[in-house]
Amino acid sequence: MKTKFRTGVAVLGALALFATGCGSSDSDGGSADGGGDTIKVGFAQTGSESGWRSANTESMKEAFSEENGFELVFNAADNDPAAQISAVRSFISQGVDAIVIAPIVEDGWDDVLQEAADADIPVILEDRTVTASEDLYESWVGLDFKKEGVMAGEWAAAEFGSEPTKMVVLEGTTGSAPANDRAEGFDEAIAGSSIEKIDSQTGEFTRDGGKTVMEGFLQKYGVDGIDLVYAHNDDMALGAIEAIEAAGGVPGEDIKIVSIDAVKDGMQALVDGKINFIVECNPLLGDLAAELVKDVLAGEEVEKTVYVEDQSFTQEQAAEVIDSRPY
Ligand code: AHR
Repeated sequence: MKTKFRTGVAVLGALALFATGCGSSDSDGGSADGGGDTIKVGFAQTGSESGWRSANTESMKEAFSEENGFELVFNAADNDPAAQISAVRSFISQGVDAIVIAPIVEDGWDDVLQEAADADIPVILEDRTVTASEDLYESWVGLDFKKEGVMAGEWAAAEFGSEPTKMVVLEGTTGSAPANDRAEGFDEAIAGSSIEKIDSQTGEFTRDGGKTVMEGFLQKYGVDGIDLVYAHNDDMALGAIEAIEAAGGVPGEDIKIVSIDAVKDGMQALVDGKINFIVECNPLLGDLAAELVKDVLAGEEVEKTVYVEDQSFTQEQAAEVIDSRPY
């Protein structure tokens, strides 16, 4: 398996490439073979659960624009795995030139990916991964979720040192690659530390979900019984902040919070001292996904996995960059 890391510079490079109209294959004829006037692409998005997802959808719609030579058939499945698979089947029956999927969950993709292969429609995965054989898709572009979990866990282990620490976890969508990998990476990083995971439950990557789950934790343990929240995304951390404040606690002080994404609202909460540390998950994957689709349809060899690098932010670092961030 070939693996390639692309930095934010590469992402910017891709943006510039598209801004100057490098997509020559869309203007010289053909369709599924990479020529043709437009390339018809079906994109199966997870839903609209978070600020990250909105930024990702926007990035994909901008990249797969008519201006760039695409006709985009967009579906957001409201985080229902069966509905997402139906959307992919509908793309196959519409005879699109290529399919891009942000898989809600990792399992259950073998049959429909085989159907796409049988119909000779290439599939590109973006954002989340699947457990199906990599022979069933051309390429995947996204983030290293396990590394994100490790970075969050390393911060927590360093922050609390040898102080006994009770932690609760707000998990992402059950069965999704980011929930699985962020849990694994974090647990590995805090192994042997003084942090004890006292509870863990899914908040479905939503602000409401994070708030509801945190309310339950606070009823069970009280503000004084929880030292740390690890939220698998900023939206759930923002929901947890509301729950902590409603319970009379001070988020970021009485209960520290570490989360993942670095979307605008999360970064603002970090600047305000309500979140203590954020690991980035870059949602601007559209241009790289569009480049992969064009390359695959043009018959070019592409990397099987394309990683985009993430950063992390303390309060001071967030204050320095918040105004210049695009999402
Ligand atoms: O798959 C990426 C995750 O999905 C983001 O971290 C989360 O906010 C989103 O819903």
